[in-house]
Parts: sequence; structure tokens; C-alpha cells
Amino acid sequence: MNFETFNGLVVNNRSCRRFDHAHKIDTKTLESLVNLARNCASAANKQPLKFILCRDEAKNEEIFSCLGWAAYLTDWPGPEKPERPSAYIVIMGDHTISDNFWCDHGIAAQTILLGARALGLGGCMFGAINIKKLKDYLNIPDTLEVKLVVALGKPVEDIQIDEVGRDGDIRYWRDENRVHHVPKRKLSDLITGSF
Ligand SMILES: Cc1cc2nc3c(=O)[nH]c(=O)nc-3n(C[C@H](O)[C@H](O)[C@H](O)COP(=O)(O)O)c2cc1C
Repeated sequence: MNFETFNGLVVNNRSCRRFDHAHKIDTKTLESLVNLARNCASAANKQPLKFILCRDEAKNEEIFSCLGWAAYLTDWPGPEKPERPSAYIVIMGDHTISDNFWCDHGIAAQTILLGARALGLGGCMFGAINIKKLKDYLNIPDTLEVKLVVALGKPVEDIQIDEVGRDGDIRYWRDENRVHHVPKRKLSDLITGSF
């Protein structure tokens, strides 16, 4: 793969929150995405992450109810049933292996999402989780700490990257055509030194 192709994958890998719910994702696909995470960097190579895969309709609804959707879209409570994710991957840290998961879960989540995008799928990682409710629904033992949930599906959302304007507002928003706009800061605002 050359850089342009990889850049295209990264740019197209937006946080997607509206899906074609009729499109199902099989267990093998979910396993292949976790296998990407398995091959990722891990602090001290401890590999403390554990994963729960879910493509079951009833369980998916339970997971959905535990997630905080798009906090900046204050008048949108999350997708209606026909646009809900087809699958979820719950990423947890195993306290029997380590008490510090560093940023392993972020690396795993992003790699899973990139892999999903490469398969023509899309998704979003969630940190806003009702952990107690989710642990109850999925019978997660206290040795496992829920870190992130990744929602996955066939995207039906148009998403566009914009440059952050003069007002500095970084909040994503939706226009009248339901295009989701994501303001990103300029490269020159990120690089504070170059020697
Ligand atoms: C650690 C982390 C946690 C996030 N948690 C949520 C969340 O709980 N709910 C949500 O709708 N989006 C969540 N997101 C998605 C961000 O809102 C999204 O990355 C941001 O709006 C930029 O959009 P982009 O991913 O398309 O660049 C999270 C992203 C990250 C990196």
C-alpha cells in the first residue's frame, strides 16, 4: 500500500453514527477486526485487552441504550432503529494482567475502525458509556474494566471534514441535507516545533 492509499483510508475513516441496519456483519468479520487489534502495539507488550463481540439483535439494543451518542448534536438522541449499528465490539482491560492499560485501547479501537473502513464498513468508538448497566447486561466480571465500545455497520452517513473557522469552534454539526461536518484544526496549528 502506498501513502496516498493509506491517507485516503484515514481520511475516509470518520466517526459514523448512522448505518444500514439491514446489513449484517458476521462473526468471522468481527474476529478478523479483533485480530488486527491483537497485532497492535501494547505498552510493555502486556496485551491486557479483552473483547466482547456482539451481533445479536436483542443484545445490540441493550448495548445501544448504554451509549452516549454525539453529545454536540443536542437535538439528536442517536440513530433510529433502521440506522442503528449491526454489531459492537466492547474493549476491556484485564486487571489480572495489568492495572495500567496506557493507551492500548485507543490504538486497538482506531485499528479496528480502520480495518472496518477497509472492508467497506464504518463505525464510531464510544467513551460515553453507562458502565454499570453495560456490565450487568453483558455479565462482565469485575476483573475486566470497560474502556471503549466500538459500534460498527454499513455507513449511510455523508461526512465531511472542514477546517476549523476563525471562531475556533471544533463542534461537529449537521447541515440541512444531514451531511455531518467535522471541523479539524490546520496542520500549522498542530506542529509547534520543527527543527
Ligand atoms: C476516545 C474517544 C471517545 C469517543 N467517545 C464518543 C462517544 O461517547 N460518543 C460519540 O458519539 N462519539 C465519540 N467519539 C467520537 C468523536 O466524537 C469523534 O472522533 C470526533 O467528533 C471527530 O470526528 P472524527 O472521528 O470523524 O474525526 C469518541 C472518540 C474518541 C477518540
